[in-house]
Amino acid sequence: MITGNYPNLRLRRSRKNDWSRRLIQENSLSTSDFILPIFLIDGKNKKQSIKTMPDVYRYTVDKLGIILDKAIKNKIPMVALFPHTRSNIKNDIGSEALNEDNLVCKAIQYIKKKYKNEIGIMCDVALDPYTSHGHDGLLKSGYVLNDETIQILVKQSLVQAQMGCDVLAPSDMMDGRIGKIRKSLDKEGYEMVQILSYAVKYASSFYGPFRDAVGSKGLLKGNKKNYQMDFRNSNEALREVSLDIKEGADMVMVKPGMPYLDIIKLVKDNFKIPVFAYQVSGEYSLLSNGINKKLIDKSSIIESLISFKRAGANAIVSYYADRINQLIE
Ligand code: PBG
Repeated sequence: MITGNYPNLRLRRSRKNDWSRRLIQENSLSTSDFILPIFLIDGKNKKQSIKTMPDVYRYTVDKLGIILDKAIKNKIPMVALFPHTRSNIKNDIGSEALNEDNLVCKAIQYIKKKYKNEIGIMCDVALDPYTSHGHDGLLKSGYVLNDETIQILVKQSLVQAQMGCDVLAPSDMMDGRIGKIRKSLDKEGYEMVQILSYAVKYASSFYGPFRDAVGSKGLLKGNKKNYQMDFRNSNEALREVSLDIKEGADMVMVKPGMPYLDIIKLVKDNFKIPVFAYQVSGEYSLLSNGINKKLIDKSSIIESLISFKRAGANAIVSYYADRINQLIE
């Protein structure tokens, strides 16, 4: 493929000047590449900091304007909503997930009323913010039930679609849920609501700060290994993706991000579909703490985000999305 040899060929020639480096640049970032996660909290007039995630906040619905005005101004295409649920409304079957007046539903309605279609809204489909045991589904003798959980996830999807959610993002890793959700959405007239499947979600230690942010940290009984993937596997990721595509997923997510760049590339190369990467809370906190302690420079943020693009991601869920315009030169 490469013709020529030193000294005829000097690759440093095109690296010498900034203008030239820009010309040969293979990847770049724009604000359109980002999905901004937003944490919601009950009450009024609150913007609450999160101990484990520097510069990330929980917002009450009436304060969402602060972060949404900015996101829209910076042309962020979509936000992802995550509720912090009070522990006294959690139970073992996560019924709050189906409450049409829950925090996520209120936020969807608020955003759609105020901003119409200026920005997309994505919502997780999973029970973990609502269950007293912190698992994404129904728990029986330490095992998360598959088919019984799907029945609830289908209802949760319909509630969110009905409120105006644009993109449903099942993040629970139950088998067969994409097909069931797609079918019921279509049946109820929501055939244009998109599904972004968290098709490849690993049982990871990098989710710690997120669980703190949504208030499920102390509650989680055991781990999520009987439904989320083993981080030793990559063939299995392709099987997960192929099933979800057949079942009707519009896009797939790989999660976490940076330790799984090989998976992003594998999925992209094999399926040629939109692949999203999630730079998860643990990655965010590690980078941010390193920068705050001056162990690494803040350009490490762009370096890590570009790696997702290089691997083949179409978009990135990142807690930096609200500040990304300042970081992209
Ligand atoms: C829940 C969910 C999790 C994240 C997004 N949705 C946590 C988990 O599966 O335990 C993690 C996001 C992050 O760490 O930033 N289904």
